[in-house]
Parts: sequence; C-alpha cells; structure tokens
Amino acid sequence: MRLVFIGPPGIGKGTYAAAVSQRYGIPHISTGDILRDEVKRGTELGRRVKEYLDRGVLVPDELIIEIVRERLSQEDCRRGFILDGFPRTIRQAEELDGITKIDLVLNFVAPEEVIIDRISGRRICRVCGAIYHVKYMPPRVPGVCDKCGGELYQRDDDKPEVIRRRLEVFKAQFEPIVSYYRGRGLLVEIDASEQAEVVIPRVIAVLERVFNR
Ligand code: AP5
Repeated sequence: MRLVFIGPPGIGKGTYAAAVSQRYGIPHISTGDILRDEVKRGTELGRRVKEYLDRGVLVPDELIIEIVRERLSQEDCRRGFILDGFPRTIRQAEELDGITKIDLVLNFVAPEEVIIDRISGRRICRVCGAIYHVKYMPPRVPGVCDKCGGELYQRDDDKPEVIRRRLEVFKAQFEPIVSYYRGRGLLVEIDASEQAEVVIPRVIAVLERVFNR
C-alpha cells in the first residue's frame, strides 16, 4: 500500500494518515513534521528551512526530495507507506516516480471556510505529535495530550496571516499535481467536509476496495 495523501492545508491529511497508519501498520511520512522536527532540534537543515516554514512557502525541491528519498529507503517502508504533504510540485512528483511506485493518491476536498476553521483550532502535542482540535477533537483535559500527557501547542504557521499565504501557495501549485495523478489513473477524490469519524471510514472503504483487504 504505497499511498499519497494530497489536499489543502488543514483539511485533515495528518489526522486520516494517522488512522490509516495504525490500521495497516505502515509508516505515516509527513514532510511538514520532518521539517518541523529539524527546526526544533536546531539542525543545519532546520536552520535552512525555518524561514520558509515561518513564511508559509514551499522549501526548495532539492531539499525535500532528498529527505523523502532517504526516508523511503528505510526498512519500515518496504510494506508500504503514506506520504502526507509530498509531492507538492510537478518536479517532486516526477522525482517520486523515479524513487518508487505509487499505488493510489487520495485527494481530500472541502470548502475553504471548513479548512480555515480546522486550522485555526488545531493543537498538537509537543511530545508525541498527536493532533487535536479545540472544538472537533478536544483533549480530555484542555492543553494536555490524552495519549502521553504532553503539552499541546499551536503551530507557528497556523497564525491567520501565514494561513492565508499557505492557502495561496496551495492554490498555485495544486491543479498540476491533481492533473498529473488523474492522468495516470491513480487519483481518488474524498469528500472531507464532514467530521473525522465520517471521513476516516470513507478512506478505509476506498482502501479496502482498491487493495481487496
Ligand atoms: P505541512 O505540515 O505539510 O502542512 P499542510 O499541508 O499545510 O497540512 P497541515 O499539516 O496544515 O494540515 P493537515 O491536512 O495534515 O490537517 P490536520 O490533520 O493537522 O507543511 C508545512 C510547511 O512545510 C509548508 O508550508 C512548507 O513550508 C513545508 N513543506 C512541507 N512539505 C513540503 C513539500 N513537499 N515541499 C515543499 N515544502 C514543504 O487537521 C487540521 C485540524 O483539523 C486538526 O486540528 C484536526 O484535529 C482537525 N480535523 C481533521 N479532520 C477533521 C474533520 N474531518 N472534521 C473536523 N476537524 C478535523
């Protein structure tokens, strides 16, 4: 099961990928998470990409392609993986084809007001990365992760002015990616406008059908 999840910022790709990863035992590879982790650890790469993340624009293709190439070469990706947030440009999609075969691309869609509402209320665990929403997926105790007790925080790029920029970047880059995968017969569109309890079973149903599970 070599999957790619695409769609606008905040639509829920990470949330659905976490559920699919748990169900099928394949790794969830989020390029955004990898980059934020590099920034947090203060690595050389983290210092190079921080400015892009803060502005809500894409980091250079060369950097992200090498990160994904290295990650996909690891042992845990042999049985499959979920790529979340990659590819975002045609160059990335073409390079990915040279790295591995992709079985299916899920394109999540929802109206813009739904997306902004989701991003604005997102909270993430500093320790384990679990994703919450203050309204739609609240933790049992406000500000504290249910899974590990870690502190919840709001991503720096979830501030209104950066959200706007991320949505603009998304709109400018997205259509060619959709056409690329539609042309290869790999694209399935998923309506993600309802709550996660509705969207996740919808995703699983598609995977069961396509992979005969
Ligand atoms: P990245 O981390 O990939 O951000 P993104 O694509 O903007 O996606 P998000 O993580 O914001 O949203 P999501 O769809 O995963 O939603 P989530 O599940 O959290 O990228 C960040 C930056 O990294 C980029 O700006 C760029 O600089 C760089 N970057 C990354 N990849 C790159 C690449 N390939 N090339 C170049 N640069 C790259 O859900 C959102 C909220 O909604 C949560 O609070 C959740 O609880 C809630 N929620 C989820 N689903 C539902 C639902 N159905 N109903 C109600 N609430 C829901």
